[in-house]
Amino acid sequence: AGLLRGGAPAADIAAPAAAQGRTLTILYGTETGNSRDLAKALAAAAAERGLSPQIADMSDYKTRLLKDEQDLLVIVSTYGEGDPPQPAVGFFEFLEGKRAPKLEKVRFSVLALGDSTYEKYCEAGKRIDARLEELGATRIGGRVDCDIDYDDPAAAWSKAVVDRLAADLAQSATALPGIAVPSAIPTGAGTPAYDKKKPFGATVIENIAIVGRYSSKETRHIELDLAGSGLTYEPGDALGIAAVNDAAVVGQLLEATGLSADAEITVKGETIALAEALENRFEVAIASPRFLDQWAKLTGAAELEALRGEERAAERLLYLRNHHVVDIVRKFPLPGVDADSLLAGLRPLQPRLYSIASSLAAAPDEAHLTVAPVRYTLHGEPRSGVASSQLADRIEIGDTVPVYIQHNPHFGLPKTDAPIIMIGAGTGVAPYRGFLQEWEATGTEGRSWLFFGERNFRSDFLYQTEWQQWLKEGVLTRMDVAFSRDRGQPKTYVQHRMLQQAKDLYAWLEEGAHVYVCGDEKSMARDVHETLIQIVSEQGRVDRDTAEDYVRRLASDHRYQRDVY
Ligand code: 2AM
Repeated sequence: AGLLRGGAPAADIAAPAAAQGRTLTILYGTETGNSRDLAKALAAAAAERGLSPQIADMSDYKTRLLKDEQDLLVIVSTYGEGDPPQPAVGFFEFLEGKRAPKLEKVRFSVLALGDSTYEKYCEAGKRIDARLEELGATRIGGRVDCDIDYDDPAAAWSKAVVDRLAADLAQSATALPGIAVPSAIPTGAGTPAYDKKKPFGATVIENIAIVGRYSSKETRHIELDLAGSGLTYEPGDALGIAAVNDAAVVGQLLEATGLSADAEITVKGETIALAEALENRFEVAIASPRFLDQWAKLTGAAELEALRGEERAAERLLYLRNHHVVDIVRKFPLPGVDADSLLAGLRPLQPRLYSIASSLAAAPDEAHLTVAPVRYTLHGEPRSGVASSQLADRIEIGDTVPVYIQHNPHFGLPKTDAPIIMIGAGTGVAPYRGFLQEWEATGTEGRSWLFFGERNFRSDFLYQTEWQQWLKEGVLTRMDVAFSRDRGQPKTYVQHRMLQQAKDLYAWLEEGAHVYVCGDEKSMARDVHETLIQIVSEQGRVDRDTAEDYVRRLASDHRYQRDVY
C-alpha cells in the first residue's frame, strides 16, 4: 500500500468507519452565547459516553466540510423577526443557497432556541431542520423547540441524542471486538463558581442618574462590586441580572385573581408562598401564548379562544403586546381559580442581560452598567421593565444583586492592532466605554472612532467628559455625535454622521477597521447596516450586490460585530 503523507501505511490505518465510530460535529449559532453554552455541555455529555465530538461555531465553520459530515447536532437561536443569529447569517446563506451540497450521508438533529412571544418562534432552527432534510440528511431525533426557559427541554434533547449516538457507537464497537471505546474526557475544569444557575450577589457601589435634570430620559450609571466572586469578563461581554418582579405588580395580580399571598404552592419540589413565587420565580407581566392558551381553556372565553391556533399567530402576539397577564385576568376573571392553574401558564422568570460598560483592567472587581429604565403606559396604568426598573427604583447602594457573566463571543476588541469604529445610540454606547477603558488601562495604541447618538446635547451626552478626556489623551481618535431632538436643529442620527464622514469611514474600512454597532435593533442597527452598504457602494464605486458582499465579508471576518436588542 502507498504511504500517506504522514508516513503511515494507508491500508493499516484505514479501519472500517463503523469500528472507529462516525464523526460527530456539534454546530451552534449564537449571538449572546446561550447556544454555545448548550453546545459545550452537549459535547461534554457526549465525550463522557465515549463519543468524540467536535464543536463548531457557525460564524467560522468551514462550509466546505459540510458534505463530509456524518453526525451533525445543531443548536441555534432565533432573533428578532425570525432571523438567525447575526454571526450565523453567512452559514444560513450557504446552507439555503444553490451551492449547498447533497447530504445523504448525514444524520442530524436540531435544537431550536427562541421566544414564544415573538411571531416567528424558533424560526432559525425550523429553517435548518427543514433544509437539512431537503438536502437528503436523515433525522436521528426530532427537532426540539425551546422557549426562554430552555434548560429542561434542551437537557431532554441532549440526553436523547447522546443516548442514541452512544448506543450506535456501542453497537459498532461490539460488532468488531477489540476496538476500545474511548475513555471519558474529564470535564468541568475551570468552570466559574458562579453562573446563570448560581449567580453571585454583587454589591451596588454606585447608582446615579447620568442625564441632565431636564432630560426626557432617565439613563442611570450603576457600578457593581464583583470582589470575591472570581468572575472575570472581557470588554464587550454582558452581565446577567437575576432580577425580581416588583411587589406592586405581584399585588395587582393577586388582587385580580383573588388568590392569597400566603397560599402555599410547590415549585420544583419546594413549598413557598404564592407571593414569593410570583415575585422571584415567574414572569408575571408579559403574557406568553401558553398563558393565553391556558386562560382560554380555563375561562372558555370566546375572545381568547379566537386567538388560538397557528394561523392566528400574528394577531395573538399583537394582543399579547397590549395585554399583560394582569389585563387578561382582569378582563376574564375566574373567581375561585387555584394557584396552580395560574402558575401553569406562566414562564419561569429569566435573567436580563446588560452590556458591561467597564473594563476590569481599569476598574478591577467591578462591572458598570448603563441602564435606561423601560417605562410605558398600558390600559391607563404605568408599567415598567423587570430588571431596569428594579435597578432604577428598587436598589440602593449597599444592596446586593444576583449576577453572572454572559461571555459574548461575537462582540469584543480586535486581537490585532486594527482600528475600531464604534457606533452606538443611547445606552448602546455602554460597551465602548469598556473598550476605551481597556485600551487606556493597558496602554494599547490604536485608532478609534466613536459615533454616538442621543436626544439632546445638553442633557443626554452620556459620559461626555470621559470621551472628551480620551480624545485629549489620544485613546479616542475621533468622535462624531448626533443629537436628534435639539431644538432648532435638524433631526440627526448616527447614520447621518456616518454618511457625512463616508470617505474617511470607507478608508478606515479599507485599512482593516473593525466596526461595532450597539443599541436598538429594529431601527438604529438596521439603518446603520443600510448606511454601511451605501457607503461601501458609493465610496468603493461598486453596485449594491458587491457592496452587500463586502459588508457580509466584514461580518464573516469578525470585523463587523453587533450587540443589538
Ligand atoms: P429619536 O428618539 O429622537 O428618534 C437613542 O435613543 C437615540 O437613537 C435617540 O437620539 C433616537 O432618536 C435615536 N434613534 C431613533 N431611531 C433611530 C434610527 N432609526 N437610527 C438611528 N438613531 C435612531
